[in-house]
Amino acid sequence: MKQTSKPSEGAFANVTTILTRQGYARFDARSLIGTGLVAAAEKLRQACRSELLALDPYDRVRCRRRFLDESLFVPWMDSIIRVPPFLNEDGEVFTMYQQYVTVNTVEKGVSRQFPGLSAAFASFPVTVVLSVLIRKLFRIFTQAGVLSFPMQPHRVGLHVIGLCPDETTPSVVSPDCFHHDDEPATAAILLWLENISGGQVWIGAPEAATAQKKPKEVPEMVKDTFTLQLPFQGYLVNDRVVSHYVSATERENKSETAARVVLLVDFTPVFAIRNSELAILTGQQHATH
Ligand SMILES: [Fe+2]
Repeated sequence: MKQTSKPSEGAFANVTTILTRQGYARFDARSLIGTGLVAAAEKLRQACRSELLALDPYDRVRCRRRFLDESLFVPWMDSIIRVPPFLNEDGEVFTMYQQYVTVNTVEKGVSRQFPGLSAAFASFPVTVVLSVLIRKLFRIFTQAGVLSFPMQPHRVGLHVIGLCPDETTPSVVSPDCFHHDDEPATAAILLWLENISGGQVWIGAPEAATAQKKPKEVPEMVKDTFTLQLPFQGYLVNDRVVSHYVSATERENKSETAARVVLLVDFTPVFAIRNSELAILTGQQHATH
């Protein structure tokens, strides 16, 4: 098992090369955002303060907050088109999210409804920062060969996940073991870290996800471990090549609030489905003529 890696100039210097070689790479999102958008990037952070996030309705202990928004990136037009969220019976905005049961056994393959994004997250200039991140991350992932169809439209998921442990209850990610996300390419970017112990990132072999194990149970499958400590530090994963895990978070000082807020940006290619393929997927015959 490797020891905790330290961020270094080399580690951030050529993210694409490292991602190609090892299937994951640490990076600093500030280097993508650029100095001209520092103030706007701070507005992105402010829009993602933990108290602004809705409770994750699927967290049984109510210590996890999140929202989810979706866009469509069309490379040949260089266009990012926001996918409209749904409205529930109470007029609340939500976005559908599904992971197959083999990927997330905790959620058992059900289609989850996550709260949609806040107005602050969808407003200028936060949208400018997000657009820059989406375009530059897409370029890194395609150049690294993580995304194999550079001219294909891609669904872009924007998840903001806040782990907010209380005095006695840790806050954990789902699933709480090595796993894949099922989106081929994901970037995780730290936005807030306040009064947190834990939240250590682990990169593992794909077999660790299959086994649904935690790092101490499969030390031979651990590739790397590190902790995101400063705003905009992050990591990229090729979801087919590595698995990942984030350890439980607890309050460092029990009497003060705590939060670890991360922005996830993930990419999934979108393909047309022909009738014959649809029939295979749904198990239904289609009319022939
Ligand atoms: Fe994950």
